[in-house]
Amino acid sequence: MSDDGDINLRHWDERAGFHLDTPMYREFVARLQAGHDALLPIDDRVLGDVTGLHVLHAQCHVGTDTLSLVRRGAAVVGVDFSPRAIAQAQALSASLGLPARFVVGDVLDLPATLGGPFDLVYTSYGVLCWLGDLPRWARQLAAQLRPGGRLVVIDSHPLSTAILPGGIGHDALTLQHRYLGDGTPERWRAAGSYADPSCATVHDETIEWDHSLGDVVNAIAAAGLRVESLVEHPETFYGFHPALQRGDDRLWRLPPPLHGRFPLTFSLVARR
Ligand SMILES: C[S@@+](CC[C@H](N)C(=O)[O-])C[C@H]1O[C@@H](n2cnc3c(N)ncnc32)[C@H](O)[C@@H]1O
Repeated sequence: MSDDGDINLRHWDERAGFHLDTPMYREFVARLQAGHDALLPIDDRVLGDVTGLHVLHAQCHVGTDTLSLVRRGAAVVGVDFSPRAIAQAQALSASLGLPARFVVGDVLDLPATLGGPFDLVYTSYGVLCWLGDLPRWARQLAAQLRPGGRLVVIDSHPLSTAILPGGIGHDALTLQHRYLGDGTPERWRAAGSYADPSCATVHDETIEWDHSLGDVVNAIAAAGLRVESLVEHPETFYGFHPALQRGDDRLWRLPPPLHGRFPLTFSLVARR
């Protein structure tokens, strides 16, 4: 793994160690304990019925979405490069009685032992910015699909990244960060976590890449997949800015009059 990957791995290993104790992940687990699941309405718009499907969940983190797919009737393998995330996911799987297989692996160089081919490869919510080589990522995921199998990607819309850190005004957005990546990563330093900004942390440096929507679509098309849909959603999955408002559906929105005018998340479905 590259030095960049080591920096990000230390960051994620540390956060995986405490994420299940944060309010955000406690809510996900409580939903699973109550017989529901942690997936969001954006998932419902694109996933369809997953009953009986053989699914690979890439960048599965501590397994809450993996186990949600299990709850919906799929047989799921979760893969993540953080050994600590995988250990947490395995423990959560055992404690909930929801069986899944969890494997340590880098999505840019997936292990040969995942047990594919899969009907569905699913990856979501905070995944692409960690990857410096999207064409390679897309080839790795495409190779896990059976012919006719589906890739589902749901992630922050690059426009929403461009409005960080300040730019939500009364009736306008200010784009402060670049929308178009140039292939070079940026170094960031932020203590805590999206799941609990107040958590004390040590490994606060990250290396992140900006990918435009065109970069994502072109990487997937170049991997030989046929893009079936690309939807831009006006909601997002976490409160990345204090001006965002959380709805009863657990999605976060821009305040009026901005809500509905700009995308915060995208979902893409492609078929092999
Ligand atoms: C923001 S988290 C995903 C959160 C997840 N969607 C959830 O709801 O819990 C990003 C995940 O990507 C993983 N990751 C980052 N780079 C990776 C790579 N190259 N290969 C595999 N996993 C990676 C991290 O370990 C982390 O678990």
